[in-house]
Amino acid sequence: MGEVRADGPMDVEGFLAIAREVFAPLYPYYADQFLRESGLRRGVCLDIGCGGGDLGLAVAGRSAMRAVLLDHAPAMLKAAARCARERGLARRALVLAGDACALPLADASADLIVSRGSVMFWKDLPRAFAEVRRALAPHGRAYLGGGLGTPQMREAICRQMASRDPRWASGSPPPPRPGTDPGAHEKALRAAGVTDYRIEREDTGHWIVIGV
Ligand SMILES: C[S@@+](CC[C@H](N)C(=O)[O-])C[C@H]1O[C@@H](n2cnc3c(N)ncnc32)[C@H](O)[C@@H]1O
Repeated sequence: MGEVRADGPMDVEGFLAIAREVFAPLYPYYADQFLRESGLRRGVCLDIGCGGGDLGLAVAGRSAMRAVLLDHAPAMLKAAARCARERGLARRALVLAGDACALPLADASADLIVSRGSVMFWKDLPRAFAEVRRALAPHGRAYLGGGLGTPQMREAICRQMASRDPRWASGSPPPPRPGTDPGAHEKALRAAGVTDYRIEREDTGHWIVIGV
C-alpha cells in the first residue's frame, strides 16, 4: 500500500484502495450534505480532482444531476469511468482530462462544483479559484476541501489509516501542509477576486463554499 503524498507522485492504486476501503463512508455523507445545503437536484455537477469518481458519482446517484469527473491523471479517469459503469451511472457521467488551474469548461456551465482531497495539490490557487468561479453558474454552489465526516467516521478512518500510513500514527490526520490552511485559502480567494464565499471549518479539515 503506497502513501498519497502532496509533494510527490501519487500511488494511484494505493489511493483507490484507501478510497474504497477507508474513505468510502465520506462520499455519500458529503454528497447528501452538499445537495441538501445547495438545494440543487439537477444540472451538472463537476468533481475536480475526482480520483476514482466517488464524490461526483455519489452526487449523481442521489439526484438527477449529471457528473463531470475531471482529473489530470489518466489512471484516475480510467478508474472513474469504471466506477460509473459499475454503479449504472455511465449515461449520466462524463470523464474529462483537465487541470484545476485551467478548467476545460465553458463559463457558468456547472451548477454544483465539488472537490475533495485535491485542493492541496493545485499549483496556483488564485488561478484555480478564479477558474471555479468562472465555470460556476450564477445560481451555483461550489464545495472545495475536505473533512472526515462525523466523529464516528473520523474515529474509524483515523484508526484504519494509522495501520497503513505512518503519518497517521498519532491517531490523527497529518497536519495541513503550509499554504493549505484556511487562512492561506482565504488569501488566495481574495487574490482571485472571489467574494461570495465562506469557509466551513471542521475538526479535521475545512470546506471552501463558493456561491453563498
Ligand atoms: C487524494 S486524491 C482525491 C480523489 C477524490 N477526490 C477522492 O476524494 O477520492 C487527489 C486527486 O486530485 C487530482 N489532482 C491533483 N491536482 C490536480 C489538478 N491540478 N487538476 C486536476 N486534478 C488534480 C489527483 O490526480 C487525484 O486524483
